[in-house]
Amino acid sequence: MASLELRNVVKRFGNVEVIHGVDLSVDDGEFVVFVGPSGCGKSTLLRMIAGLEPITAGDVLIGGERVNDVAAARRGLAMVFQSYALYPHMTVRKNLSFGLETMGAPRAETKRRVAEAAEVLQISPLLDRRPGQLSGGQRQRVAIGRAIVREPRIFLFDEPLSNLDAELRVQMRVELNKLHRRLGATMIFVTHDQVEAMTLADRIVVLRAGVIEQVGTPLELYNRPANLFVAGFIGSPRMNFLKAEAGTGRDGRPRVAGASGIDLSLEENTLLQPAEKVTVGIRPEHLKIVSAEGASLTGEVQIAEHLGGETFVYVLLPSGETAVVEIKGQARIRPGESVGIEVDAAVSHIFAADGTVTGQSRAGDDTAAWSRPAQQLAEASRQ
Ligand SMILES: Nc1ncnc2c1ncn2[C@@H]1O[C@H](COP(=O)(O)OP(=O)(O)O)[C@@H](O)[C@H]1O
Ligand SMILES: [Mg+2]
Repeated sequence: MASLELRNVVKRFGNVEVIHGVDLSVDDGEFVVFVGPSGCGKSTLLRMIAGLEPITAGDVLIGGERVNDVAAARRGLAMVFQSYALYPHMTVRKNLSFGLETMGAPRAETKRRVAEAAEVLQISPLLDRRPGQLSGGQRQRVAIGRAIVREPRIFLFDEPLSNLDAELRVQMRVELNKLHRRLGATMIFVTHDQVEAMTLADRIVVLRAGVIEQVGTPLELYNRPANLFVAGFIGSPRMNFLKAEAGTGRDGRPRVAGASGIDLSLEENTLLQPAEKVTVGIRPEHLKIVSAEGASLTGEVQIAEHLGGETFVYVLLPSGETAVVEIKGQARIRPGESVGIEVDAAVSHIFAADGTVTGQSRAGDDTAAWSRPAQQLAEASRQ
């Protein structure tokens, strides 16, 4: 196991720069997830760490040692790909042991490691089968097993769950979580799926177009996104974004209001220019359906999604914007109904025109600003 450090890492393919100077420190034993839309540079970054892709500029350090010029095979890492890349003509046992054998590992040691990995992944009964006789999930386990037997200093995963069906993905997510805890290994995991990132990571690195947008624990990113991109990327359904303009309330405090009917009073230290255009971000669980009468924010229900445990209500606002409201449990709400919406101002986010956060209405201290659901989530994650 080892720590990892990236110092101003740049990647150019010909004249095209795709990674623009990434700095990152990963602690020994940490599970870090790189997340971002397709094409943002996740795989390229991972392949540079692995030594499969030359680094244009900057440094990669593993366990404090600069490895820019160290060949992939000598970095002591193991990578698991989305395509399992198993040898079809070899048994599972052979697929697991092959790498060690070619490195000249003692036979008894190889046997022990294969048995242990198979045990951890619960594939011992499958050792004599060939990949063709396995399900997709079982094949993915073998691919992970092949990484485990190498006892790498760092595990690198490139979207290893993307080929699995939804149910199996959830199951493998839980298994990977357990595996990480059991091995205590440093793991870098790449995905485009924010739910996967939220559930697996100690820390998430959000990438966009070759730049790190934000690094933090899942709840740090959820509660305090640094910009519009992260705010919109983390969380499902997505955070609501409503256009608004800055002004001053009758009480002298800064205020933002918009054509939708949104009207929020902000902390006095919020830095907004008069008439500055902003975007107000509010998560669906921080909105509440109330009676239309007397509500400042009103609209018409377009769709109600009844999921059983919660209900998502899509409300068309007078500005033409849509707000999604999350209701815990089941609610009798029908399309066409006129409703009011109450905003939990304490957990609203104010973004400037350039997308960066300029205010979090009365949310200076994040524990105070947390809504109950977020707090429960935090408590649940500590258990
Ligand atoms: N070998 C290559 N040659 C040229 N461009 C590449 C190569 N590999 C990746 N790219 C480009 O680099 C960018 C990042 O790609 P990639 O790291 O695969 O993204 P992700 O894994 O996040 O989907 C993309 O614009 C992609 O087209
Ligand atoms: Mg990729």
